[in-house]
Formats: sequence, structure tokens, C-alpha cells
Amino acid sequence: MKNTVATLMKQKTQGDKITMLTCYDYSTASLFDKAGINTLLIGDSLGMTVLGYEDTLSVTMEDMIHHSAAVARGAKNALIVCDMPFMSYQVSVEDAVVNAGRLIKEGRANMVKLEGGADVCPQIEAIVKATIPVCGHLGLTPQSINAFGGFRVQGKSLEAAKTLIEDAKRVEAAGASMVVLEGIPAPVAAIITKELSIPTIGIGAGAECDGQVLVYQDMLGMFPGKKPKFAKVFANVGEVILNACDEYIKETKDSTFPGEENIYAIDPEVEKELNALYNM
Ligand code: KIV
Repeated sequence: MKNTVATLMKQKTQGDKITMLTCYDYSTASLFDKAGINTLLIGDSLGMTVLGYEDTLSVTMEDMIHHSAAVARGAKNALIVCDMPFMSYQVSVEDAVVNAGRLIKEGRANMVKLEGGADVCPQIEAIVKATIPVCGHLGLTPQSINAFGGFRVQGKSLEAAKTLIEDAKRVEAAGASMVVLEGIPAPVAAIITKELSIPTIGIGAGAECDGQVLVYQDMLGMFPGKKPKFAKVFANVGEVILNACDEYIKETKDSTFPGEENIYAIDPEVEKELNALYNM
């Protein structure tokens, strides 16, 4: 059955942890959906994991729509959350509503996610008013790396933690249905999770959140770059791919691939005539 905002709310109230993974294409979406992952995030992390940029800042609306639509085609049950890319919502409330609408209409997402606290509450309110569910994103928000001076854990001082908690409350009051907490101390995430009635989804924010999200290339050992501390590798698929490539190269070179089971036959009489004609 298709997961909805109501399903996730129910999971929070029942203490049933929500699972979210990033996803950027049709076949991976089909697999994650089959596995029963509750929600798939077309994160702007695709800028790094799929497109090879050094950060998420160059990702465009067209990139997000393209990947979101592919994921939506592959996922029957998972709720589809699509990131609003850098500068698609910061400039004006009007931009935010128009671009959120495109992610729903063209990208077939069920919810949009945007980064920021009190500063983006007018955008959240307007998008929700346009009947589009919103997921907030607080803490180590990658679109602000230039302001942060790099990928740094946020909310470590008393003041910074209090600001984060207040921001979370404001994002909820603005109408968000869920909030991602990234790269913040676990005790701060635990307070936010207790204080909010909407679900919190943690990434580098401890086990007290209502759910967890991971970038799938991190959790499957497929990303060549630096791996953050919170990114547990659940299976080394990267190694499986390398081994499969080794085997493919070997079998192609020694002509054991393709084997009898991988080729198309022809009528033996036709084959005989062809061979005679072409001196085979
Ligand atoms: O872009 C992304 O993948 C994200 C997650 C890290 C939460 O925003």
C-alpha cells in the first residue's frame, strides 16, 4: 500500500521507525520499494553520487525532475520525497511554490524537501498552502557549506543547540510534515524528536530520531569519496561490482562469455549454407 504523510505520522506515534534511503533511478527504486523501504529521497546528493560534482550546489531543477520521475516510476509503495535544489526556493516565496509544484507535477514526487529553519518558514507555509507536503532539513545542511566553511557538525554549543530546537519548532509550525536532522549531536536530535509531533529522520543524528536516512551508495559501499562517520556500510556492493567486472573482463577475453545459453541459434541448414558461402 502506498505510504502517505498519514502513514509516517502513524509510525511516529506507534514508535515504528521510519526507513528512508536516497534513490536516483528506476531499477534501484524498484529494489528498495520491493524491500519495503518506507520512503525514497531523491536527494540533491545526486550531484555528488551520480553526477560527480564536489558538492550539491550545481544541481538544477531539471536534474531533480529527471531523477525524481525515474524513481517514481519504480516505486509503488514508498513515499517519494524530492529535494529542492540550491537557489530554487531561497530567492522568493513565489519561486519556491512554482518549483515545488514542478517537482510534484513533472517529477511525480509526493513531498518536497528544503533546507533551513526560520529563514525558510515563509516558503514552507506557501508550499503547504498550495497543498504540497514539505519535509524540512536542519543541522548540517549541505547547501550552506560555504557559509559553514565545510561539512561540519552543527548545534554543538548550548546556543547553537537551542537555535536548532527553536528552528525545528518553527518548521513544524510553518506546516512541515517531517524534518530531516543531519550532522547534529544525538542528544539534540533526541530533544527535537520529543518536542515535535511530526517525524524526525536522522542522518548522523543518533538513534532517537523517528527514522533514519542514508545515502544509498554510502550504505552499499559504492561511493569512492570520503565516507562520513555515520555512514554505516551494510553490504559491500562496490566490491561485488568490482569482482563481477574482473570476471566479465576475463570471460570476454578468453571467449568463455557468451556461452551456449547466451546466444541465438539458427536453423542448421541455413547455418551450413551461410558457412559455405563465407568460407567459415
Ligand atoms: O541530498 C541528500 O541526500 C540528503 C540526505 C543526506 C538527507 O539531503
